Amino acid sequence: MTVQRDLFASNRAWAKNISTQDPEFFEKLSRQQRPEYLWIGCADSRVPANEIVGLLPGELFVHRNVANVVVHTDLNCLSVIQYAVEVLGINEIIVTGHYGCGGVIAALEQRPLGLIDNWLRHIQDVHRRHAPMFLPLPDGADRANLLCELNVIEQVDNVCQTTMVRDAWAQGRPLTVRGWIYGLADGLLHDLEMEVGLGDDPAEVYRHAVEAAALRYSR
Ligand code: CO
Repeated sequence: MTVQRDLFASNRAWAKNISTQDPEFFEKLSRQQRPEYLWIGCADSRVPANEIVGLLPGELFVHRNVANVVVHTDLNCLSVIQYAVEVLGINEIIVTGHYGCGGVIAALEQRPLGLIDNWLRHIQDVHRRHAPMFLPLPDGADRANLLCELNVIEQVDNVCQTTMVRDAWAQGRPLTVRGWIYGLADGLLHDLEMEVGLGDDPAEVYRHAVEAAALRYSR
């Protein structure tokens, strides 16, 4: 039981550390959560949502899956968005991808990994949609990085198309959906110019963001 012993010891040290700084922290948190942000990110162990943006428990509502994909019919992800928007009243949704994403690279290389290949088909759809952008690029990092960026842009658009987000905008709520990408090598977030707010045309923002991505890789 060394795994349990180690992780429980680590957990006690963590809880003690937080309680030392704020003795009522957990007591207050147990009564209610009031996060301002919904984070949709990759399940990758190197991209821990709260740590990256320096937020404490209670400050970030999180959904993570392989390669931060938002599928129109994924009841899991849709339920998270619905609860965040309609119950918690969150007006900030952030889709965060990351460079060097194993799911994106596997999709790009069409490397068979089993059941997950079905999930990664969604990323291959993104690749196919923008295939001409990839033609001038050499094999390797640039292609993978471009697809990581386009995947975020696509998933932001998918969030914008959900009934929950459309309804929120129809009610005049100042809800914003944005796309960021995280660099594993330097720990920094980058904005992908895919930010859709109340009154914006998602299709127009999408076109602009894709053009900006194309420019980054045309040098
Ligand atoms: Co990933």
